[in-house]
Amino acid sequence: MVQPVRNATLTRIAFAGCVVLGTHKHLPPPSLEELGLESFGRPDERLSGARLLKPKKFRFQLLADFIEANFDASMRVLDVGGGKGLLTYLLRLRGYAACVVEPEFQVLPGKYKDLNTNKRVKIPQTESVPRISENFEVELAENFDLIVGLHAHGANLKMLEAAARFGKPCVLMPCCVIGESATPTPGESWFKWLVHMAEEAGLGVEYFCLNFKGQNVGFIAR
Ligand SMILES: C[S@@+](CC[C@H](N)C(=O)[O-])C[C@H]1O[C@@H](n2cnc3c(N)ncnc32)[C@H](O)[C@@H]1O
Repeated sequence: MVQPVRNATLTRIAFAGCVVLGTHKHLPPPSLEELGLESFGRPDERLSGARLLKPKKFRFQLLADFIEANFDASMRVLDVGGGKGLLTYLLRLRGYAACVVEPEFQVLPGKYKDLNTNKRVKIPQTESVPRISENFEVELAENFDLIVGLHAHGANLKMLEAAARFGKPCVLMPCCVIGESATPTPGESWFKWLVHMAEEAGLGVEYFCLNFKGQNVGFIAR
């Protein structure tokens, strides 16, 4: 189930202390409630059917559906840190001219589950997606209409810079803080810091959440 986008602004929150979670130096993203998003259920509630959180591996299908519901299919999409390219593949099936920018060459998976038909779909070995095999740099975004980062590394801040410089919307689902050009101080939330940086760059922010386990909140900056 795709949750509706809600307009929201966020004031920067100063944290009293540093919470260290495993090897992570930064706080996790805010709760759905804090972002003004509808919760998938009460903590004690047994969820079922469409409200049941799906496995993380379905994030590509869910994000492709979200993009389709919110952005015109005529758009050229840059899938930053797109890994194997499944999000790009699914967007191309939906009509978007999508392309991966990713320094590590990775082949498309051999199959995926179509969540609408609940059937497994094979991807022929002959299939591939357009790839730019390098690190994302701000200038790359100029020739695209939409910048997407699904759990991308090394590029979240640059994607926001690109959105502001070229006036292109950016869909970010930030996850780990790896290889970024700048980071918040330990103890701050990476998600909130990125929202703050987007707003500092003059971008408006709309939060969303997808129905999968793990880091499933994101924002559109434009
Ligand atoms: C956690 S993986 C996410 C891959 C995919 N989007 C997914 O959800 O499975 C992060 C990806 O970012 C890529 N990456 C690392 N530094 C990058 C950079 N500077 N520009 C673009 N991609 C980068 C990595 O190679 C890796 O494939």
